[in-house]
Amino acid sequence: MVGKAPRRKVCQNGYEVENWTRFRFVEFEYEERGLVCQVSLGQTTLSFLCISGGLCYINRRSQAQNPGTAGDESPPRSSRRENRTFVNPMTDWKRKSKILITCPKGISPWLAGEVRALGFPVLKEEEAAVETKGTLADTMPLNVLLRTGHRVLYHMTDFMAENPEDLYRNLRNIPWEEILHERGEHAYLCVTSTADTPSIRDVRFANRKAKDAIVDRIMENCGLRPDSGPDRDRAVVHVFWKGKAVSLYLDTSGEPLSRRGYRKIPLAAPMQETLAAAVILATAWNGREDFVNPMCGSGTLAIEAALFAEGRAPGLLRGNFGFFHLRGFDPTAWRKVRSAAHAARKETAARITATDIDPRAVASARQNARTAGVEARIDFSVCPFQETPVSKRGGVVVLNPPYGERTGDVSDLVDLYRGIGDFFKQSCSGYRGYLFTGNAALGKKVGLRTSRRIPFFNGEIECRLLEYELYAGSRRNRKEEGNGDT
Ligand SMILES: C[S@@+](CC[C@H](N)C(=O)[O-])C[C@H]1O[C@@H](n2cnc3c(N)ncnc32)[C@H](O)[C@@H]1O
Repeated sequence: MVGKAPRRKVCQNGYEVENWTRFRFVEFEYEERGLVCQVSLGQTTLSFLCISGGLCYINRRSQAQNPGTAGDESPPRSSRRENRTFVNPMTDWKRKSKILITCPKGISPWLAGEVRALGFPVLKEEEAAVETKGTLADTMPLNVLLRTGHRVLYHMTDFMAENPEDLYRNLRNIPWEEILHERGEHAYLCVTSTADTPSIRDVRFANRKAKDAIVDRIMENCGLRPDSGPDRDRAVVHVFWKGKAVSLYLDTSGEPLSRRGYRKIPLAAPMQETLAAAVILATAWNGREDFVNPMCGSGTLAIEAALFAEGRAPGLLRGNFGFFHLRGFDPTAWRKVRSAAHAARKETAARITATDIDPRAVASARQNARTAGVEARIDFSVCPFQETPVSKRGGVVVLNPPYGERTGDVSDLVDLYRGIGDFFKQSCSGYRGYLFTGNAALGKKVGLRTSRRIPFFNGEIECRLLEYELYAGSRRNRKEEGNGDT
């Protein structure tokens, strides 16, 4: 069979074919990822993957039509098959692949719940990540809707690399010119890496080696070298390198999703937005009852609660994601994702109360809530936590007091924690009370029986979200000091 090949320049491993027009089909093979066909051009055999009728990627070549013979640079047939994992995602944003969603340490159970609720499978749950499966197009709703995810990483390929030169060689074989832009506003690349491999002592070296391979490849094929650097506001490629195994991802988030964009005025010891969202999910608050947040600081818990109650997608607050800067990005599809996220907003009667003893904290929390578009949902006031107005309607009270790691001295905090126990008993009956702390000994000073102790991390600090059922007359549950956290 003789056919017409596309008129374009193809470059693989430094081998170039220009303006070639006639070829002969040699072999078809159906594989899980599509139809692989080999075509012959004179003495050379080239392999393509055809998806949706398109010609997508040359993934190997041989000098002779008889693989494995002298002069054939390709590995034997079986190992070549193992390496043929890469498909150029830009030609098909609808091709399914592994998607790794990272999160702050310890909150993957809540992230996994969110992923399932959005209709995606949870293939693996790790301490700081959840693995699912979907298309590059699926990363758009995931980036917009997830409250507890940090980065949505679309898996491109896996390969083996023993040293930086192997990394360079493998990366240079990928057709980056079809994935990234070489000119214009999008032509900027950031490479991030996680490297736990003997040949890399400084992860910045892995980043540089990977970046060099990518921009050299683009330079070779397009004659232009995209800019590169540490800014994550355009295309981001992530290299995960453990031992000899490298997994390559497109970081479709760019800036981490915890950077919602509303916290313009952070104070000392603010809680990360994704962690605050996980705390709210852990309380099982229904978004209709009251949510009371004394010691609100810069307002992260109160603002995340308001976004949750109103069904507002946190990603709608952002004007930029990594996937904007990849070739094949479809603005129309993106507008549909945004419209669907807008349409999911809910009516709610929930009231949120946020107070702090520090007027600067309340001013910043109010400003941040205004930026997030939820100021009207939250009643702010400056007062000691004991004077926080708590309605009789019931709901959830959440406090994140200082715990001596970054703010406040532990010995000064004992009375504060005892006072929280009194506040819970005297002012919050009919509510579920929650205390987020990184100091277990201080937590015990509350002096009330906990109904749950949910483990979290704030950075590397091991924390607990302590839950108290605050029935009327919970005085009966009061334990002796030092014995309280049972
Ligand atoms: C760890 S910060 C809260 C951080 C907050 N979750 C955020 O995301 O920004 C603790 C807050 O407790 C407040 N605070 C300390 N003692 C207080 C008291 N007695 N009454 C009310 N607020 C107090 C501090 O002003 C500080 O803003």
